[in-house]
Amino acid sequence: MERGIHIEVADTAEALALKALRMSARMANESVRERERFTVAVSGGSTPRPMYRKLSEEPWRSEMPWERTHIFWVDERCVPARDPASNYGASKADFIGRIPVPPGQIHPMPGDLDPDEGAERYEAGLIRFFGLKPGGVPVFDLMLLGIGRDGHTASLFPGQTSLDEKDRLVISVTGGDPFLPRLTLTYPVINYARHAIFLVSGEGKADIVRAVLEHRDKTLPAQRVRPTHGEVTWLLDRDAASMLSQGVLHEHS
Ligand code: 6PG
Repeated sequence: MERGIHIEVADTAEALALKALRMSARMANESVRERERFTVAVSGGSTPRPMYRKLSEEPWRSEMPWERTHIFWVDERCVPARDPASNYGASKADFIGRIPVPPGQIHPMPGDLDPDEGAERYEAGLIRFFGLKPGGVPVFDLMLLGIGRDGHTASLFPGQTSLDEKDRLVISVTGGDPFLPRLTLTYPVINYARHAIFLVSGEGKADIVRAVLEHRDKTLPAQRVRPTHGEVTWLLDRDAASMLSQGVLHEHS
């Protein structure tokens, strides 16, 4: 039994979004009670969009401690915010522009800069915000992650040297679909979070979910998300979970 890994299956993509909202609101309120703020890093991609869109609607609008919430990004495509490929642009349309978070608490990755400069700038911002000493790593309360059909997560793609990064908090890489220069948090940051949630929906992801959770294929970037002190929860809809054995579901329920 691998410790700290939980799997939850929802009947539909909508039920999946509701589960993710309930978990996030619980973690946010717990974080504020314990540490007076909630720090979350959000991913792009299409899967979390139904969840993001509900954030500005009741009951989530009232349930979330927005005044104490700080929103960061797990990764970003190096394009201006108005570009349809921008993760920040999509989040702005889905929820950032509709929730009462003080503007200074929204921390988009600078997708419009030269990628290396953007990575340095975001890393410096994390060091300042979290008050890190040299070599320190931020502890996010929550990382919301997705997985691609090739097993990538954040903008950490199979076979790239970015997977071995141990020192930097933020790096620039090129890859993905759309194939673009991107900025991404690195494993040291992702794996230091108190909680990571993978949100996965659809039959098209069933194969890769099996490769990660059942075969534990270590070449797959998502497989290497193992919070050092925290927990990882895989929230799957029934289609995404369809190739998992009862054994694995039972082991991590
Ligand atoms: C990105 C993401 C990426 C995403 C997966 C899943 O910017 O592309 O952060 O890691 O989470 O590619 O994307 P879908 O939800 O669109 O399948």
